[in-house]
Amino acid sequence: MKEAIDKGNIPKHIAVIMDGNGRWAQKKGAMRIFGHRNAIAAVRDAIEGSAELGVEYISLYAFSTENWSRPKEEVDALMEILVQAITDEVPTMMKNNIRLATIGDTDSLPEACREHLKRGKEETRNNTGMTVVLALSYSGRWEINQAVKKIVRKVVSGEITEEDINQELIASCLDTAGMPEPELLIRTSGEVRISNFMLWQLAYTELYFTEVLWPDFRKRHLHEAILAYQKRERRFGKTGAQIKPSI
Ligand code: IPE
Ligand code: IPE
Ligand code: MG
Repeated sequence: MKEAIDKGNIPKHIAVIMDGNGRWAQKKGAMRIFGHRNAIAAVRDAIEGSAELGVEYISLYAFSTENWSRPKEEVDALMEILVQAITDEVPTMMKNNIRLATIGDTDSLPEACREHLKRGKEETRNNTGMTVVLALSYSGRWEINQAVKKIVRKVVSGEITEEDINQELIASCLDTAGMPEPELLIRTSGEVRISNFMLWQLAYTELYFTEVLWPDFRKRHLHEAILAYQKRERRFGKTGAQIKPSI
């Protein structure tokens, strides 16, 4: 399958809604947390598979603003798994020249998580290969809200005027400032919704939904998603005829 992928048309940025851990565990008669633990192998495969193809950014929706409303034991376990995963994965990221970044309200995370994230980001800061963006305590509406506040502060301080507010400025005030918009979004587990992920950035993203539950996600599923993406015609409002390369 990997051979069928057109190397000249690889998305620069892939966004992933990693869903279905709880159901994966429940199917096995286990606790939901067991599913979260088994999500790490899928994360590793998604990162490795993307890096192999030359993807520049992979954004992983790991914990949403709304996920804070889950039972405390589950939230605590997720935070522990996060710390463990960072500790385990940073050496591999160093080996593979991968940079770690985050988006979301990371100040709201427990101190141990904040510390590990800070260290992981610092350590991998000068890596020039792919960037792994972890969305933590993230939601698209939260991010847009933050951006609006930043812009208002700039206007109030006199740094800019109303005339300066445009789409570039808004994009530059989002947590994803400087990153390309995702060309492809993958959501696992059969749910067909965005769940407050990258609301601004997904405006023209190709959406790909698969029934695979996240802990079962492997490189071949990533390859399937990229192949499906490569079959899409991205028109950006134009007609099909307009975007066909003229011979
Ligand atoms: C995704 O799996 C992981 C997080 C949202 C943290 P879920 O925990 O949502 O699993 P399901 O959707 O309940 O199966
Ligand atoms: C979205 O999954 C958030 C993450 C994958 C981190 P959820 O499982 O929280 O989404 P909903 O609630 O089913 O829409
Ligand atoms: Mg879910």
